[in-house]
Amino acid sequence: MSNIIIIGCGNMGSAFAKGFQKNLSGQHHLHIIDHEGKHFDTLKKNRSGFIEASFYHNAQTLPKKLKADALIFCVKPQVIEETLQEYTSFITPNTFALSIVAGKTVAFFEQHLPKKTAVIRSMPTLGASLGLSTTFYCENQFVTQKQSALVKQLLQSIGMAERVSEELVEKSVAHFASGLGISALFENMMLEAAVKNGFPRDIAEKAVCQNLQAITVLNGEQNHGLLAIADMVTSKGGTTQAAREVMTKKLQELVYQGMEAALKRSAELAKKKER
Ligand SMILES: NC(=O)c1ccc[n+]([C@@H]2O[C@H](COP(=O)([O-])OP(=O)(O)OC[C@H]3O[C@@H](n4cnc5c(N)ncnc54)[C@H](OP(=O)(O)O)[C@@H]3O)[C@@H](O)[C@H]2O)c1
Repeated sequence: MSNIIIIGCGNMGSAFAKGFQKNLSGQHHLHIIDHEGKHFDTLKKNRSGFIEASFYHNAQTLPKKLKADALIFCVKPQVIEETLQEYTSFITPNTFALSIVAGKTVAFFEQHLPKKTAVIRSMPTLGASLGLSTTFYCENQFVTQKQSALVKQLLQSIGMAERVSEELVEKSVAHFASGLGISALFENMMLEAAVKNGFPRDIAEKAVCQNLQAITVLNGEQNHGLLAIADMVTSKGGTTQAAREVMTKKLQELVYQGMEAALKRSAELAKKKER
């Protein structure tokens, strides 16, 4: 039986809890810390029968002798330092700390946790609440193979999870966490163009989203590839080609520039949070 403690039950902590309850199988016991207990009722109803769950308001009410296998830190960067202090007593040589805290490096956790603690830094996205996160994560040298397998299982229960270098975890904030918002913004621009040309807003929005769904299915389930999908609707001298000629080069250049701006800002914020 592995004991998994989720610390902080806001947007992300509750998404993790729901994902674990829905998708984790095996011998796990979830311990969920929610200051105000706002999510207790929903999570209690969610119980799948595969996984046990207990609910607490703070570290003091956890069983003192609890042997934690995983501590998952889902609190804001501003309070992470004091939160780590609260939970250090639950760390044994077999415990790993999994962080989703933006801008906090592996080195930061190593500095604030007992020596040789296994640390995983991850960056989930808004899709986590739907089981559709694109999570990139990295591990320090103290994570064992068994822990690594559990980490993957935990992160995959909220979507796709890829182990990469810490540099790419940092960059995934811009490309995929912000990227989700940027993609939505682009689709909204397509919506505005349709509205400008006479379509009722609600119908245009539905159509834009339906197109997005079609792209996802064609790419994912039928393995076409994004460019191939664009090519599938492009005929020589046709309408898609006319739009591509006007947009592709400029838009690609803008996307590069946008991502550079996001990466620069992400580095600035990380530096600020380190202070
Ligand atoms: N939201 C996203 O899309 C996203 C994506 C990737 C990463 N992240 C990272 O995920 C972390 C959490 O974000 P969020 O959006 O879930 O924030 P949130 O909704 O504010 O949730 C944080 C929760 O932690 C609780 N908390 C604070 N101190 C605590 C403590 N000592 N012990 C137990 N619980 C404590 C807060 O309770 P109180 O309000 O009562 O203090 C709150 O319920 C952040 O570090 C963020 O950088 C977020």
